[in-house]
Amino acid sequence: MKCFFYFRNKSRSRRHQRSAPELKGELESDFSGCSRTAASSCSLTSTRSVPELYEEKAHNLRVFSFAEMREATHDFNRLLKIGQGGFGSVFKGSIKPIDGKGDPLVVAIKQLSKDGLQGHKQWLAEVQFLGIVEHPNLVQLVGYCAVDGTRGIQRLLIYEYVTNRSLEDHLFNKALPTLAWKTRLQIVLGAAQGLAYLHEGLEVQIIYRDFKSSNVLLDENFHPKLSDFGLAREGPEFGRTHVSTAVMGTNGYAAPDYIKTGHLTAKSDVWSYGVVLYEILTGRRSLERHHPRPEQNLVEWVKYINPDSKKFSSIIDPRLENEYPINTARKVAKLANTCLEKNAKDRPSMAEVVNRLKQIIKAEDDDEPYEKSPDNSDNKPDMEREPEKTKVMDSWRRRMSHLQKLGEHVEGASRRRFMIMQRAKVP
Ligand SMILES: Nc1ncnc2c1ncn2[C@@H]1O[C@H](COP(=O)(O)OP(=O)(O)OP(=O)(O)O)[C@@H](O)[C@H]1O
Ligand SMILES: [Mg+2]
Repeated sequence: MKCFFYFRNKSRSRRHQRSAPELKGELESDFSGCSRTAASSCSLTSTRSVPELYEEKAHNLRVFSFAEMREATHDFNRLLKIGQGGFGSVFKGSIKPIDGKGDPLVVAIKQLSKDGLQGHKQWLAEVQFLGIVEHPNLVQLVGYCAVDGTRGIQRLLIYEYVTNRSLEDHLFNKALPTLAWKTRLQIVLGAAQGLAYLHEGLEVQIIYRDFKSSNVLLDENFHPKLSDFGLAREGPEFGRTHVSTAVMGTNGYAAPDYIKTGHLTAKSDVWSYGVVLYEILTGRRSLERHHPRPEQNLVEWVKYINPDSKKFSSIIDPRLENEYPINTARKVAKLANTCLEKNAKDRPSMAEVVNRLKQIIKAEDDDEPYEKSPDNSDNKPDMEREPEKTKVMDSWRRRMSHLQKLGEHVEGASRRRFMIMQRAKVP
């Protein structure tokens, strides 16, 4: 009821609506969640609803015309296509700075595929949630384009361009150099911080619902940024333990309790995070048809391997070539196991995961140094390093730009995207 009051009284913050006029109507009709859907809207400690927070912050978002989008992408030139996901195609583009002065800004532009039925809602969710968040480990939304013309609808999202592809690409695409152990830890720590911020760092709780390695983008320093907020949901309202939803997410990452009941909590994200921890440990995808049957489902496979056992080292990513401290790996696996507890309540919060990871990393730094991967000592592109390293980086860059030119979506992440969209059986 409280949220309803705020929503009805949104004229107070009208000045903030100017930069996002096209979205206002959309938000009222599709995302006035607090006023309408009691079971799923206002979160635990929130005094304001997401739409109201959005109104406060939306002035940071730019609204683009479709003509600007065509110009930015050279009319959606295939050579500028950098990815294809469930939502649609992603293009690299450049836009004019807001004041029209200075260098153009390089951006990633996601275009909703016209037949994407779920797409429109996901587009709105992304604008709404990314419009209110601000964190170094979350991708920044620059703006959006929404046009309902006689020739159909166009929905686009314009993000900061994150230069270094996704964690999925770096873990599983053999054409890219091996991710060094320390870089892996740095990436999972940053990703955990991004999730912890969503769960506990805002006035509202945001459940991300689609945490997976392809949604963790990496910048030039391999700092992670979570992208893809299309499935995000606001956490449970005060007094509720969960949000009841249709089950959505990606097969291999979604928590089994959520799949079974449709009860969504922040602990559903914690499960998905545990899956990604095992991906970085083993270098294996969460689901992999090419392995023998008992090894196809990563979580099922590692379940029987005790991190303290001798056998444990046999599951570690062979591409690391033993250049990792086994004790740290065991600790990370134990942390992953807590995230993968069957009972959601037994899983740690993401804030606890962040603390634990920091301790693990600190203990590793305090220990004896170990030999690092010869390919990428800390994976930082740094032209001042010795010549062989620069050579490796050069060839890596050439390969990356070649792949981009081909518009190839490395390893076909979308192939595995499997939206579970069954109606949850909620009592
Ligand atoms: N902000 C961005 N900066 C740079 N590249 C991006 C950005 N957003 C997306 N991409 C690229 O586009 C690809 C496709 O992204 P998208 O999120 O649409 O699909 P996906 O994550 O691969 O699959 P899914 O639809 O299952 O989430 C990403 O893997 C990444 O390579
Ligand atoms: Mg994605």
